[in-house]
Formats: sequence, C-alpha cells, structure tokens
Amino acid sequence: MIDSARPLVAGNWKMNGSRAMTRDLLASLGTALDDAGGAPCEIVVCPPAPYLADAARALASIPGIGLGAQDCHGAASGAHTGDVAAEMLADLGCRYAIVGHSERRGDHGEDSATVRAKAAAALAAGLGAIVCVGETRADREAGRAEAVVGEQLDASLPDGANAENCVIAYEPVWAIGTGLTPTPAQIGEIHAAIRARLADGVRILYGGSVKPENAAAILAVADVDGALVGGASLDADAFWSICRSCP
Ligand code: 13P
Repeated sequence: MIDSARPLVAGNWKMNGSRAMTRDLLASLGTALDDAGGAPCEIVVCPPAPYLADAARALASIPGIGLGAQDCHGAASGAHTGDVAAEMLADLGCRYAIVGHSERRGDHGEDSATVRAKAAAALAAGLGAIVCVGETRADREAGRAEAVVGEQLDASLPDGANAENCVIAYEPVWAIGTGLTPTPAQIGEIHAAIRARLADGVRILYGGSVKPENAAAILAVADVDGALVGGASLDADAFWSICRSCP
C-alpha cells in the first residue's frame, strides 16, 4: 500500500553511481530533510539494483525517503538469468518498482504486454508500480501524442490498478535527457487525458528534463502529482530543490 495523498518525487538514477555516491547522496538528502524538519512530499530514490541493499541500509535511519527499483521481472521467480524478481525487491525494503521506462522499452524491446506483466508482478509482491508511458517526437509531430499515451496506458496497466498500488509517469521520450520539456499546457493536456482513464486518486508524475529551474512551474500544472527525475536526481542539492518545489 502506498500513500497517494501527497505528491511524489522519485529519483531515477538509471545506470549511474557507485557505492560511495549512494552513501554520500543519501547522507546529504538525510541532512537536508533533518534541517527542513520533514519531507515536503513523498520522496523516493531508485538506485541501480546492485546498490539497493546499501541504499536500504542508509535509508533505515532516514524514514522520510523511500526506496524504489528501476525494473522488475514479470515472473515471480524462475529461470531468468540476470533478472530481478519483485519479491526480491520487496525483501530488500523497496516500496516501488519503475516499470515500462522508455529506456527499457527501447533498449530491451519491452512492449506494453511485458510492462503489464511486470506491473502485475510488482503489485503481487506488495510494491507500488510506477508505470511509465510517453510519446516519441515523431508521435507528437504526427499529432498522436495523446493517442499513443492512451494506447500504452490501456495495455500496460494491470488489473486492479488503483491509487494505493500504482503511479503513472508521463515521460515524453523526446524530453528525456535532452533539456527539452513540453510547455505546461502540453503537459496539462496529456495529464488530463491520462486522468480520464484512471481510477480516482492515482498519481500522475511528469518526467523528462525536470530541473530545479523548471520544477515549480511543472509541478503547479493541474493533474501533475509529482515528478520522475533522471539526471537532476544524481545531485543532492538539485534533487532536494525539486522536492521542495512541490506545491
Ligand atoms: P531526465 O530527468 O534526465 O531527463 O530523465 C527523465 C527520466 O527518464 C526519469 O525516469
């Protein structure tokens, strides 16, 4: 069960970092949280799988920050060399697993049926699933952004998805790691379209080049319930500044 009442800012470290960086970054965030007297929103960090155990140990003394994984397998266990089961992530203390990130869809050929199985596995293990959707530049230029996102959403969401077990992340592929972002109006349009397809209260995060400089404007858009942050989550000050930008 996840608490859907607060905005969520999640840091997706992707394939970056080290044990030392994990320790230092989480210590800095813990200090910022202490100095502030509490968390301005729900905060989650998603380090690479090899660092999850270190992160879990560090976060044991920082209750204001939760742990998430960047992916999980769609099966509960079995002969899947190199993969990680949702149950293992729950066992490590994870609260969430990101599924269907466009880099997984692209690098590993994951289609929405695969993403749906992963999300279902996350739910079965008691994790919250952060289900990612987003159009390419070509989709947007063809006027198909909303249609593509709707198709991905319908095909990726598992049965029983609700505000207590699922979060959606809208991440336009062309905005990821590029410094480009949609306008607030464009973000609002897609978020409203996503909202119309979801059970009540499911949070919808925006992701794609969220930085301290643009976070407040993005987080103020209607139907934006938080952010999924890539590059800027690797810097404690930048990530904390984004967390503090939640309305
Ligand atoms: P950037 O914030 O680096 O653009 O990455 C966004 C993202 O893909 C988060 O999952």
